[in-house]
Amino acid sequence: MSLLEGRHALVTGAANGIGRAIAERFRTEGASVTGVDIEDGTDIRFDLADTAAIDGLVERVGPVDVLCSVAGINEPMWAVELDLARYRRIMAVNLDAPIMLASRLGRAMAERGYGRILSITSIHGLHGAEECLAYDVSKAGLEGGTRTLAIELGPHGVLVNALAPGFVRTRMSGDELESDWFRTIYVENRRLPLRT
Ligand SMILES: NC(=O)c1ccc[n+]([C@@H]2O[C@H](COP(=O)([O-])OP(=O)(O)OC[C@H]3O[C@@H](n4cnc5c(N)ncnc54)[C@H](O)[C@@H]3O)[C@@H](O)[C@H]2O)c1
Repeated sequence: MSLLEGRHALVTGAANGIGRAIAERFRTEGASVTGVDIEDGTDIRFDLADTAAIDGLVERVGPVDVLCSVAGINEPMWAVELDLARYRRIMAVNLDAPIMLASRLGRAMAERGYGRILSITSIHGLHGAEECLAYDVSKAGLEGGTRTLAIELGPHGVLVNALAPGFVRTRMSGDELESDWFRTIYVENRRLPLRT
């Protein structure tokens, strides 16, 4: 029997990159998958920044055994030039949506006594980077929320985890792996804030 036979999985960010790969793998493992994305190319087109509409999304999707929150965005923004609207959008997609989905679906999973919740965070949850204030805050926040959810839901058969990738070649990372930024600041200087 396949690992996810008979399970229904909800995967956000399923139209591209890591989310698409996870959705494909889940299907290979026997799950029925509902993919959600703001772009075409998966089952439900939905803007995860619309936090107030998430309860409606949960109702539409029905019972879910596995939630995998992958959708994420980033845009360069110096901390001292923070634009509140852009900051809030990044927080809504990267932090509020996975937390709301985990809250609502986690409750139903706990009532049924089984569930798996996985959120994709990032190395940015641990290490800051220039021009990434909102992204860094959102990923660190999601790791904190994951710990709380894990403690509350674990006794009810719901395992909650976060996976923090380093660099994965997708359209989001672009050519980061070849950049001076990655080679010098990340690798050679091992993320020392004063770079000495
Ligand atoms: N690529 C990397 O190196 C890397 C490293 C660490 C963490 N991550 C994280 O992995 C996740 C996936 O990133 P990726 O590299 O596959 O990027 P990607 O851009 O290829 O995929 C992100 C997906 O999220 C969707 N999305 C964006 N905004 C949305 C919204 N408002 N509503 C619904 N869907 C929305 C996009 O349409 C896209 O399909 C993100 O959370 C990202 O922060 C990526």
